[in-house]
Amino acid sequence: MNDNNVRKAVRERYGERARSGGCGCSSSRSCCGASKPVSEAIGYSKDELRAIPEGADLGLGCGNPTAMASLRKGEVVLDLGSGAGIDCFLAVDKVGETGRAIGVDMTPDMIDRARENARREGIENVEFRLGEIEHLPVADASVDVIVSNCVINLSPDKPQVFREAYRALKRGGRLMVSDIVLCGELPKEIQESMEQYVACIAGASQIDDYLGAIRDAGFRDVTVVKEASAESAFSRGEAEKLGEKGTLKLVVDGQALRLEDVGLTDQTAHLLATTVSSICVSATKP
Ligand SMILES: C[S@@+](CC[C@H](N)C(=O)[O-])C[C@H]1O[C@@H](n2cnc3c(N)ncnc32)[C@H](O)[C@@H]1O
Repeated sequence: MNDNNVRKAVRERYGERARSGGCGCSSSRSCCGASKPVSEAIGYSKDELRAIPEGADLGLGCGNPTAMASLRKGEVVLDLGSGAGIDCFLAVDKVGETGRAIGVDMTPDMIDRARENARREGIENVEFRLGEIEHLPVADASVDVIVSNCVINLSPDKPQVFREAYRALKRGGRLMVSDIVLCGELPKEIQESMEQYVACIAGASQIDDYLGAIRDAGFRDVTVVKEASAESAFSRGEAEKLGEKGTLKLVVDGQALRLEDVGLTDQTAHLLATTVSSICVSATKP
């Protein structure tokens, strides 16, 4: 898998998601006949989901980073891989009219969808920029808070993403990222599967490498504020399955393991469960 092939496959996959409204079904609020709406299960409250424009929630996240970012009035928030805009819209609710949110995404259909969502609702303090998170289209030291939701695992150059995040933040700025990481080796056939890459599994880093890349970029106070491993949930019998037969999304303690839409058998899911974790990490720029 070279970097160009990866980016092309990611764009194609998420372009389709943007055009179809998420999973291909007509309602993004209750994805693919799931027993419970995916976004509620991963930590968004009903009130939050009611407050955002229809079509901004495509059920693609693995946490709720803006809820943990302690956003304050007047702050500028940057969302890496903003999709249809869910976390940007939640952020502008919190930072108020004097603050703003900027979403960056490399998939043109996602940007179109997010811009249309903002236009339809007349939300003016949010903007969506087409670009790669490895080369952020924002000035140095220009944002207060960076959030990201299930995106950095898709980047072929994660250390560069964290260096760019550091560059874009003001001194004292905060990072709050929900993402998928590994705590062991994936089976070889999964490591080599582009389908599993775009599904946020095969591109994920080992947790120590991920946290190390954040520190190496210059961040301090790097802390895992939430972690959900499916293994422990399976053993407690608490893993919740969302989705139709043949697909699976595990949601544990408000963090989702994005195992859906890839036709995993229960057996493969159990295997993955020993190596895949969903985390939320905070850090600060000194
Ligand atoms: C799993 S979706 C998550 C979208 C959004 N954060 C959410 O929670 O709904 C991943 C998004 O990241 C974008 N993306 C993936 N890799 C990227 C990169 N290297 N640069 C910019 N955007 C990227 C994709 O286009 C897609 O919209």
